Amino acid sequence: MFINLGLIGNPLTHSLSPSIHTHFLEKSRLNGGYTCFEVKSKEELEDIIDIFKRYSFTGINITVPYKCDIINFCDKIEYSAENIGAVNTILFKNKKIYGYNTDVFGFSKIFIDEHIDISDKKVLLLGAGGASRAAMQFFSENKPKELLIANRTIDKAMELKKIFNINATILNLDEVNDINCDIAVNSTSLGLNGEIFPYKANVKYAVIDMQYKPYNTPFLELYSDYGIKKINGFTMLIWQAYKSFNIWTDKEFYPDIKKLKDIAYNF
Ligand code: ATR
Repeated sequence: MFINLGLIGNPLTHSLSPSIHTHFLEKSRLNGGYTCFEVKSKEELEDIIDIFKRYSFTGINITVPYKCDIINFCDKIEYSAENIGAVNTILFKNKKIYGYNTDVFGFSKIFIDEHIDISDKKVLLLGAGGASRAAMQFFSENKPKELLIANRTIDKAMELKKIFNINATILNLDEVNDINCDIAVNSTSLGLNGEIFPYKANVKYAVIDMQYKPYNTPFLELYSDYGIKKINGFTMLIWQAYKSFNIWTDKEFYPDIKKLKDIAYNF
């Protein structure tokens, strides 16, 4: 059987997902393909879902800007995707569409792989947009000793705290420079264009960036002379993809991280 997989979003330039999933197909000895579909408007979303059904697609990843809109097409949504309000993976099964969010699994793998216990850590989360929600879901299931959320728009941070029902101190990004914490997580889009990351807390244990390009992201770069753990979003990227693949195929294996790293950083 040929397994049809794919990705929808806009824009989709330089997506690593086809390379990652092609590796997963090879690794699990399945015959299939992973195709990118740049969907230009919400109207096109309905058409493309029909096409996926007609051509018996097994599963699709969904990225910006359709992670919320896709919910309307799902017959059933898994708990954390519902909490987060975003679906990044759908499974077509028995003429139904099942929605999942695998970013939480991807984010949690950072802490598992690096043996980081947050129960005794003061954690600072930078950002309160779409990407921050996977982190918040993880923090609601694995409570840090103390949580601070810093965002440019305070109301969005307040809303995040309410949705996930967690004790947290809300800060403006401008206040971050005066903060001492154990772990700082960047979920903002600051630095994506290579600019210097403009906010720097004093961090004692680990800095984690959800961005993965370049390897030393502008946020991690701030801490280059700190002897602490520095983790970019590559782990999260691989493991959210693995979880999607597992949902689609039920296959379990250990991805070749070194090979994927070579692909990711030697374009
Ligand atoms: P994503 O889905 O990538 O999380 P998003 O939902 O637009 O994208 O969220 C982007 C995050 O980066 C938000 O926290 C945003 O702050 P606001 O909530 O105030 O918009 C933050 N961000 C983006 N550009 C920023 C800038 N120039 N200064 C400060 N924060 C910024």
